[in-house]
Amino acid sequence: MSTMENLIGLVNRIQRACTVLGDYGGEGASALPTLWESLPTVAVVGGQSSGKSSVLESIVGRDFLPRGSGIVTRRPLVLQLHKTDDGSPDYAEFLHLPNKRFTDFARVRNEIQEETDRVTGRSKMISPVPIHLSIYSSNVVNLTLVDLPGLTKVAVEGQPESIVGDIENMVRSYVDKPNCLILAISPANQDIATSDAIKLAREVDPSGDRTFGVLTKLDLMDKGTNAIDVLDGRAYRLQHPWVGVANRSQADINKSVDMIAARRKEREYFATSPDYGHLSSRMGSEYLAKLLSKQLESAIKSRIPSILSLINKTIDELESEMNHLGRPIAVDAGAQLYTILELCRAFDRIFKEHLDGGRPGGER
Ligand code: GDP
Ligand code: NA
Ligand code: MG
Repeated sequence: MSTMENLIGLVNRIQRACTVLGDYGGEGASALPTLWESLPTVAVVGGQSSGKSSVLESIVGRDFLPRGSGIVTRRPLVLQLHKTDDGSPDYAEFLHLPNKRFTDFARVRNEIQEETDRVTGRSKMISPVPIHLSIYSSNVVNLTLVDLPGLTKVAVEGQPESIVGDIENMVRSYVDKPNCLILAISPANQDIATSDAIKLAREVDPSGDRTFGVLTKLDLMDKGTNAIDVLDGRAYRLQHPWVGVANRSQADINKSVDMIAARRKEREYFATSPDYGHLSSRMGSEYLAKLLSKQLESAIKSRIPSILSLINKTIDELESEMNHLGRPIAVDAGAQLYTILELCRAFDRIFKEHLDGGRPGGER
């Protein structure tokens, strides 16, 4: 792995360890919550059924999310992808089920559904309490992604009126953070001027520096129309070019079209499209995954000085915390502090070795 991959991998693991530690960090090491917040993430934002969960699955290259019409995603899902290189089979792990390795991804989907219901009941209610899931695979890029409930304009049967504002506030609490990259999902079969994702992204990121426009459902547009105006940035200009995708349709899902077939179909769709053929090298989910990983990489690079100083502050705090271990401390918390300390030291060391190598800034 390259140095940058190593550093992003470490950032990922530090984030995870901070999460495991939960509130404890606030008391022992005050730099920890700040450290978490300084580490970049990607939030997936859009209207209900715009294709958020589908895009996430395509990025991961795995079937593991509940999907469908209506409000399916009812709690934030913080998804950490960890690239492995030891040849072991892919697996997933939930924070709320430590030490349980999922190798069957259909079970991951069930567990997300059940864990959602555990907090919200089988209602159509939402909860801001995130579900934390880590996926370990040789086929992923190191990324932290957050799937969020869809923005909506009206409450449905059984939901309080306040749900519209509650969802928006929940989404906002993620995308407000300057370190959050925004994956703004808009369906191509709706007017871009009415896109909930673009509306919110424009509010929290007026310069468009950290917004990535993704256009889904290109295959569902009316015959004789196309989305070239959007994809070329004429309909709504963003700093970063728009990426179009063709996810699986509901019929594909019902027929259990798998991810490999879906990706092949998507590649073919763009390669043979009379409208988008000339754009095909910068369209599709695989391209999007690589683009995001690159962006996350440069977001981390540009923040390395502040991340490093926070990491050093955290190391100092944790070291003195560990020295106090005479006083009562939960065994788990102690072990987690130690893990974070080790990860921070590793980050510091790899970064310094890299600097000594004479290539500051982490160029490959
Ligand atoms: P979410 O509510 O934003 O997470 O949307 P989902 O990913 O659950 O997708 C909602 C529905 O739209 C599902 O039935 C998907 O199969 C379908 N869908 C999503 N993206 C596309 C696409 O690009 N093309 C087609 N044909 N259907 C899509
Ligand atoms: Na949905
Ligand atoms: Mg969803």
